Amino acid sequence: MNMPEKTPRNPGSLKSVVIAVDGPVAAGKGTLARRLAERFGYAYLDTGALYRAVGAKVLRQGGDPADPVIATKAAESLDESDRAAPELRSEVVGLAASKVAAIPGVRAALLEFQRRFAHQPPHGKAGAVLDGRDIGTVVCPDAPVKLFVTARDEVRAERRYRELVDKGENVSFERVLADLRQRDAQDQARAAAPLKPAADAHLLDTSDLAIEAAVAAAAEAVAAILKR
Ligand code: DC
Repeated sequence: MNMPEKTPRNPGSLKSVVIAVDGPVAAGKGTLARRLAERFGYAYLDTGALYRAVGAKVLRQGGDPADPVIATKAAESLDESDRAAPELRSEVVGLAASKVAAIPGVRAALLEFQRRFAHQPPHGKAGAVLDGRDIGTVVCPDAPVKLFVTARDEVRAERRYRELVDKGENVSFERVLADLRQRDAQDQARAAAPLKPAADAHLLDTSDLAIEAAVAAAAEAVAAILKR
C-alpha cells in the first residue's frame, strides 16, 4: 500500500501498547475501539476501511472483487484518496471488501501498514487500537489486550439496518440480515486469516448491552490486563 507518512511517528524507544478488537459485522467493535482509543489516549485504525477501500477501487475500475490479480494490484496501489472514497460504508462495498479480503495477495499488501501503525502509532501516541477480523490472530498476535466482540445475528442486522436507513439507503431488514450472514460466512470460511477469536481473547457479547455499558466493560477488561 502507498501511504505517505504525514505525521511524525513515535521513534519507537517505548513499546506501544496494542489493543486488538476483532469481531463480525456490526458487533459494535468500531464504536468500542474508537471509544477505547479516546479513553486511553491511543491512536485508532479501522482496518475494515482498508479492505473496503480495495473493494471500492476494484468496483470503480469495473473489475471483479474476487479476481486475485485485479484485487491485489488495487491493494498494492492503494492511497489516501482511496481511503477517503465516499461510498466506503455502503452494503455493496462491504460485500466486495469481504471478497477481496479472502485473497492472500490483498492481505499481504495491507499487513505492513497495519503493523507499523500498531507498533509506531502516529502523533507519538503511546498505544494503538486496531479493529478488524484478524488483529489478535495475525496482524498483532503479541498484542497484550485482545477483545473479541460479538452479538446475535438479528441484533447486529437491526443495528446495521438502522444505520443504513438513517443514511437514506433503501434496504429491507431481511436483505441486511442475509448480507450480514453471507459476509460472516465468507469471513469465517476463508483460508487466509479467517475470522475467529484468538485463544487468549476476552469475549464480549454486546447483544444486551447499551454502548456505554459495553465501553465500560471493555475498558475494565483493558485496565485489568494492563495492570498485570
Ligand atoms: O469491519 P468491516 O465491515 O468494515 O470490514 C469489511 C470487510 O473487510 C469484512 O467483511 C472482512 C474484511 N476485513 C478483514 O478481512 N480483515 C480485517 N482486519 C478487517 C476487515
